[in-house]
Amino acid sequence: MSPVCDIARNYDQYFASQLYDQRYPRPNPSSLSIVVREIQEGRKRVLDFGCGNGRYAAPLLEQTDAMIVACDISRGAIGELSARCAKHVETGRLQPVCGDSSVLINAMSRSEGFDLAILMFGVLGHIFSQPLRQKTLATIRSLLRPGGRIIVTVPNAARRFFKQQAMAQHLVRKGHLEPGDILYERKTDHITVKMYYHLYNLEEFIQEIKQQGFRLIQVRAESVLPESGIVKSAPLRWFDRMLMTIMPLRYAYGFLAVAEVAPEVGQNQIPSPGLPG
Ligand SMILES: C[S@@+](CC[C@H](N)C(=O)[O-])C[C@H]1O[C@@H](n2cnc3c(N)ncnc32)[C@H](O)[C@@H]1O
Repeated sequence: MSPVCDIARNYDQYFASQLYDQRYPRPNPSSLSIVVREIQEGRKRVLDFGCGNGRYAAPLLEQTDAMIVACDISRGAIGELSARCAKHVETGRLQPVCGDSSVLINAMSRSEGFDLAILMFGVLGHIFSQPLRQKTLATIRSLLRPGGRIIVTVPNAARRFFKQQAMAQHLVRKGHLEPGDILYERKTDHITVKMYYHLYNLEEFIQEIKQQGFRLIQVRAESVLPESGIVKSAPLRWFDRMLMTIMPLRYAYGFLAVAEVAPEVGQNQIPSPGLPG
């Protein structure tokens, strides 16, 4: 299956237009606090995979003593991150890497190993296609130390892009897209950025993580209300926190999983998928 769009180029445009910063000017505070807690528990060598222009990496460098390798396929995003966090690049606390997981693995020495990898706000869903998402997760697992953890968030198909899901059906039938894939656009007055996204259901998300040798610790809502609202409005954040306590997980806007490298999982010992517990 050939790629449906040039994700690196599209994200270059998305960041350069400043539309991304306008929509998502800061991290989701509840997701950020989960990452901070993992670092404060001692997981100090962190991989921020699909870091964008540093929405999570920048506050993590300020709020913790983590060392961060920040990797993104978008050259523009890595450029913005490097400028924004120049002092940390200089001291070596931040190492930016431009490329996908195959570039990352060549840039890293295995002995360095990470304690924690984060893929925040749908990074996995922007990787086309399922085999490449699996390969990416497997590569990240291979870079984690024993007991290392991963925090991943993905969009919930039951809450997102209904029109685009219907429009994608004929491309799925023709074999150009996989079930759950959509194409969508982000527009300003000046540009239209064409995007690809894979939307998840909960069981598929859990299965994809477990299949790559991770033991699930926690699956919860990333948010219930749209991310672009809660990152801009304190009352919406308050309301979202309240909704998270009463809404079933299947109504989440996005899912967030914390998982750990399962002990003694080799290529021939893939655990069977299922719900956490
Ligand atoms: C929705 S943005 C999230 C950015 C950041 N994590 C945040 O929360 O603001 C998705 C990011 O994933 C990056 N990305 C997509 N496919 C990638 C791949 N195969 N390897 C590395 N980064 C990728 C994009 O360039 C983009 O910066």
